[in-house]
This record gives sequence, C-alpha cells and structure tokens, in this order.
Amino acid sequence: MISIYLIGHNFEYEIRELTRAFFFNEDIKFIDDIYESNGDMLIISKLNSSAKGLISITEIYKDNQLVYNERLDVDKIDIGKEDTYKKVKVGIISNLYNGLNKISPVEAPWGILTGVRPLKIVHDLLDKNYSYELIINILTDEYKLFPEKANLLYKIANKQRKYLYPLDDKRFSLYVAIPFCPTRCIYCSFPSCSIDRFGHMVDTYTDTLVYELDKIGSMMTDYNISTVYIGGGTPTAIPAKNLERIIQTIYRNFDKDKILEFTVEAGRPDTINLEMLNMLKDNHVDRISINPQTMNDSTLKLIGREHTSQDIVEVFHMARKIGFPVINMDLIIGLPSEGLREIRTTLSRIEELDPENLTIHTLAVKRGSKFKEVVDQYQLEDQRIIEQMIKETMNYANRMELEPYYLYRQKQMLGNFENVGYAKKEKECLYNIKMMEEKETIIAAGMGAISKIYYPKEDRIERVPNVKSLQEYIDRIDEMLARKRSFLS
Ligand SMILES: C[S@@+](CC[C@H](N)C(=O)[O-])C[C@H]1O[C@@H](n2cnc3c(N)ncnc32)[C@H](O)[C@@H]1O
Ligand code: SF4
Repeated sequence: MISIYLIGHNFEYEIRELTRAFFFNEDIKFIDDIYESNGDMLIISKLNSSAKGLISITEIYKDNQLVYNERLDVDKIDIGKEDTYKKVKVGIISNLYNGLNKISPVEAPWGILTGVRPLKIVHDLLDKNYSYELIINILTDEYKLFPEKANLLYKIANKQRKYLYPLDDKRFSLYVAIPFCPTRCIYCSFPSCSIDRFGHMVDTYTDTLVYELDKIGSMMTDYNISTVYIGGGTPTAIPAKNLERIIQTIYRNFDKDKILEFTVEAGRPDTINLEMLNMLKDNHVDRISINPQTMNDSTLKLIGREHTSQDIVEVFHMARKIGFPVINMDLIIGLPSEGLREIRTTLSRIEELDPENLTIHTLAVKRGSKFKEVVDQYQLEDQRIIEQMIKETMNYANRMELEPYYLYRQKQMLGNFENVGYAKKEKECLYNIKMMEEKETIIAAGMGAISKIYYPKEDRIERVPNVKSLQEYIDRIDEMLARKRSFLS
C-alpha cells in the first residue's frame, strides 16, 4: 500500500497515474492526515507559496526511512508557455517523477505524461513555430520523455498536420457505433453486447440508429462531412442487410462526394463472409479492419476469440481479391502466455499478408473487462520483454514500409507504453488522426457513442455522450438528439 498526502494542491489524478506507472499493482490511498499512513510507502507532495515564488516539495518515506527529499522552483520550468497552472502541475509531477525514478526499478519512457494524447503538446509547440531542437528539449527536460519517445512524437505530429489544418468549424466526421460482438474477448471493456443474448434486439437497434442518423442529417445541413467510421463492437456481427441499411442512411443524409474516407471495422473474421465483403465494397467502403490481435491459435482460444489464425488469412485474401484499397489489422502486445517468440510468429505471418495499416496496442488491464477479474492467474510479461516486443513491431513495420501516423496512451497499460497506428505512404486513416487530436467535430450515433463538438477559437471540445445501455439508447433517443442539437447551436 502506498499512502499519499497532498498539501497546498490537488493534482490527485496526475499523482495517482504517475505513481501507478512506477508501481503497477500497488494499492494507492490518498490520506487527509499524515497519521493515517499505514503502508510500506508514504509520499508527501507539497506546494509552497512565498515571496520568493512557488516551490514544489516532495518527500518519500520507505519503511519509515526518508529516501527522497527535494525542492523544485516552479518559475524555472519552461514548457513553451506562460501558463502558471500548467507550470505548477509540471513542477509538482516532475519532482515526484524524480523521486519515483530513483526508488523504482520500473522505467517511465513517457516521463511525467499521464494523459491519453501526448501529441497535443507537440502540436501546440508547432503552432508556435518552435524549432525541432526546442521541442525535443522541452519534451525531454521538462516532461522527462525518453529521447526516442520525443522523436516519435515529433515525427508523427509532422505527418498529421496536413490532415488537421487549416482548422474548420464547419467540417465534421461521423462515427457510428454497432455494439454487438460474437463473444466477449477477455481483455475488452468496450460497450458491447453478445449477439447470442441480444440478437433479438438488432432490428430495433437498426431502426433507432437510422432514426438518429436521419435527425443528425437535418441538424448538420450547414456542415461538411469529411470522414465516416463505423466501429463497435463488431459492425459485421449484425446481418449484412442491417449494416447496408445503416450505410445507405448515411449516404441519404450526407454528401457522398465529400466523404474522403469510409471505414467499417469488420474486426473478427468469424463475422466476415463473401456476402458481407461484397456488400461493403458495393457501398463504397474503402477501409476495413480485419483484426487478428495475435496469430497464435492457443492465445486466440485463451482470450475468448472463436476463430483461428487461418480464418484471418482466408478472410484477408477474400478482401484483397474484392479490392479494398486499405485493410487495417489490429494486434495486442502482452497478451497472456505471449513473449518475443509468439510476437515474431504473429508479425511474420502479418508480413506475408502485407496490410496497408497496422495498429499495435499494448495490453491494458481495464476495469470492466473479464481479464481484470482473472489477471492473477496469468503470467504477464515484465516491462523489458514488453519493450522488446514493441521494438520488434517497429522493426517489422519498417520492413513492411509502414510508418507511424497516430499514437495514444491508455490507463492501466502494461509497462507504461503506447498504442501506435502504422500506415503505408498516403494510406493513413484520417478519422483516427482527427478523432485522437480533437481538432474537428465528431458527431457520433449509436449506443455508447461520444460526440465531440470542437470550438476552434478556444481550441477545446465538448463531449456529448450517448447512453451505454441498449434498451436505454432505444428509449431515450430523442433526449440524446436534443442534447446534440443544443451543443451544436
Ligand atoms: C473496439 S475494439 C473493436 C475491434 C473488433 N471488435 C475486434 O475485436 O476485432 C478495437 C481494438 O482495440 C484493441 N483493444 C481492445 N481492448 C484492449 C485492451 N484491453 N488492451 C489493448 N488493446 C485493446 C483491440 O486490438 C481491438 O481490435
Ligand atoms: S475486442 Fe472486439 S470482438 Fe472482442 S469484445 Fe471487444 S469489441 Fe468485441
């Protein structure tokens, strides 16, 4: 147990996430008084304000022995902007980082960054015309990133800019959620319903979604559509005729000629057949995902995916023959029972298929997934092996002429790493970039889908979520539409 006592500030979220990055499985408790401390470790993080300025003080005690005690002058921090709140936050967190880094064997390649979107910092600095050297210095000195992560961010941000700028408050992307799956994978916490149990609701769900899309269509007449993404769940888990009705509703409501990219996450091969793929192609879907997660059959069984690696290969060839311009494949690093050997097997089989996009996730042990309940039964690979596996994915991506084009991080991710999307030249998924960097409005339809309205002048978004239960989505659709309408006006 780690007890944490904050004095003079309340950056509880950031302190918790950073401490968790160094001590993954420890319980963390925030205390209101030093006498409540009852664990092996006590962290005191204090913000002192005096005539001399703001000072961050961190003390760490292990087994009642003081092992770290430092003061850090907040004024000396340079993050490329005079934002006192942000400088105080960086000062407090980087002082804690220095202490945890000293006492923990775990490394934190992302330094003090605990958020999901590390690229935002680089886009901000590029907006101000900062040079490469200055940006790398800020990332490594102030945010404590390892140089390879700083360089990765710089490279990706530069690749993304032509797709994000110029900003336009009248442009939007459309996300449509189909929250059905054949079975539940043990690591997954996305809102999704098993088709076996909820299959009887697919028609009513389709009716409600079509109704929502029609209403959104009449709300968005002043806006221009840019990309469409149908995700889930597994959109291809519902009958092809339902999915086709949804796609045609999109074309009925939005200008087809303006759509730059239309993705359908086909996902699991056990939901894909020739009829489904032909329907998608006939309806001008130009990007699909066929996701192995791993090409090792024993792991596929263990994680609850009822398909084999051979099914992946067959479906992939089928999609190639039909002629989809972009096929993406998702993999997860750090799945139970997998090490370097298994990831090499997976990557060499993917290399033979040669997809245009490859998305590499690092396993996140999420609350709400079945995996969280049974995590102790598995041997999870330690940080260094995860790191080697990630390096191997980079090597293979390089050989396959795939370059990193988007990146995000998640909470509870193994070994403090990241998720990276790779693409062949000019085959980057525009929706993924726009959604992650939050510089364009996303209007989202369907159960659990979250709309994000972008206000370019203030460079901020407003989240407008739909409810996460199937029945409630159907019952409360008008209420959710009214909320979208009010944010758009
Ligand atoms: C919303 S899922 C939908 C994909 C599709 N239903 C499928 O399973 O093929 C998108 C991707 O997130 C990744 N993912 C889901 N849960 C994860 C977790 N706990 N840790 C790491 N990656 C995860 C998987 O690679 C998955 O393909
Ligand atoms: S990973 Fe995909 S198929 Fe598996 S439960 Fe999650 S959304 Fe469904």
